[in-house]
Amino acid sequence: MRAQVIRHFGDTSVFTMAELARPEIRPGHVLVRVHATSVNPVDFKIRSGLLPQIAPEFPAVLHGDFAGVIEEVGAGVTEFKVGDAVFGCAGGVKGEGGALAEFMLVDADLIAKKPVSLNMAEAAALPLVTLTAWEALFEKIRLKPGQTILIHAGTGGVGHVAIQLAAWAGAKVCTTVSSDEKAAVARSLGASEVINYRNESVQDYVERLTGGKGFEVVLDTVGGENIDKSMAAVALYGSIVSIQTLSTHDLGGLLLKSASLHVVFMLLPMLHHHERKRHGAILRQAADLADLGRLKPLIDPRRFSLEEVSKSHALLESGHALGKVVIQLS
Ligand SMILES: NC(=O)c1ccc[n+]([C@@H]2O[C@H](COP(=O)([O-])OP(=O)(O)OC[C@H]3O[C@@H](n4cnc5c(N)ncnc54)[C@H](OP(=O)(O)O)[C@@H]3O)[C@@H](O)[C@H]2O)c1
Repeated sequence: MRAQVIRHFGDTSVFTMAELARPEIRPGHVLVRVHATSVNPVDFKIRSGLLPQIAPEFPAVLHGDFAGVIEEVGAGVTEFKVGDAVFGCAGGVKGEGGALAEFMLVDADLIAKKPVSLNMAEAAALPLVTLTAWEALFEKIRLKPGQTILIHAGTGGVGHVAIQLAAWAGAKVCTTVSSDEKAAVARSLGASEVINYRNESVQDYVERLTGGKGFEVVLDTVGGENIDKSMAAVALYGSIVSIQTLSTHDLGGLLLKSASLHVVFMLLPMLHHHERKRHGAILRQAADLADLGRLKPLIDPRRFSLEEVSKSHALLESGHALGKVVIQLS
């Protein structure tokens, strides 16, 4: 099969096309013909050598997100049959082949049937970011109707899905963006209040949107200094959930508000064979929401082929993509 592989860590030029053996079917797994995959920051962090502890073995096939059609079904798999269109985040990390190849062997527990209303490119944009937002909002925070949530980076991969899920759950959604164009997109996704973080201070938007009380829940998808901003924005007894927590902070800001900090790392089921069925179950619910019109991916209009993976990584890494970057294999 045709695949993009990396043989060492490095910049976007490390990808090379290769001919690899098609993976052999295993019990509990399905073999998927990959139609589309999407880029996530973890993919370019693995590629560049920032996360060697979770990187797949060389020659490595990267990318977890995929949408495709089942070609073979392994022993013990009862939920899926040959010809089913499926989607999921199921590889591209230590021990698991990735989606930058014509075929991908995936654990049936990690995946779900593709939403019928989405095409392959749209479906491939959703899994990793949806699993992350879902775990943050509904498993860590248990977001309730009527709560006010601040979601950072409302047109980013995780942020744009989090807006839709939080609005569906009945929360009042406020979000940060960097331009008027992105503000309009965030509103169309379900945000009722939008903050341009480049020209409004935390103190000002806390005053404007909460009368100075702060947000009951803050989803921090940015990390670094932004976690300090989240601590400044959260309400007394409020909750912050962070998905980018590789940094050092004075947690006094939490103590003074008796606020909680939750952390999500969505790759754990894949990396540790831990509760993998939970991911399949979340994706089934996400597929239902997509078919009800409540969850739609925001996809950058620039499309890429398997041969153009380097360009797709360069675009997401540049910070100039709008939403998700998708690679279409067929
Ligand atoms: N722990 C986990 O399980 C997990 C899962 C998924 C992702 N992540 C991590 O979470 C981060 C976000 O992932 P993603 O897929 O959403 O990335 P993404 O699609 O690249 O989006 C990043 C967004 O951040 C915004 N941004 C940059 N600086 C900002 C700031 N100071 N304040 C507010 N927004 C800012 C950018 O929008 P503007 O142009 O508007 O600035 C952009 O839309 C990455 O570091 C990723 O590795 C972790």
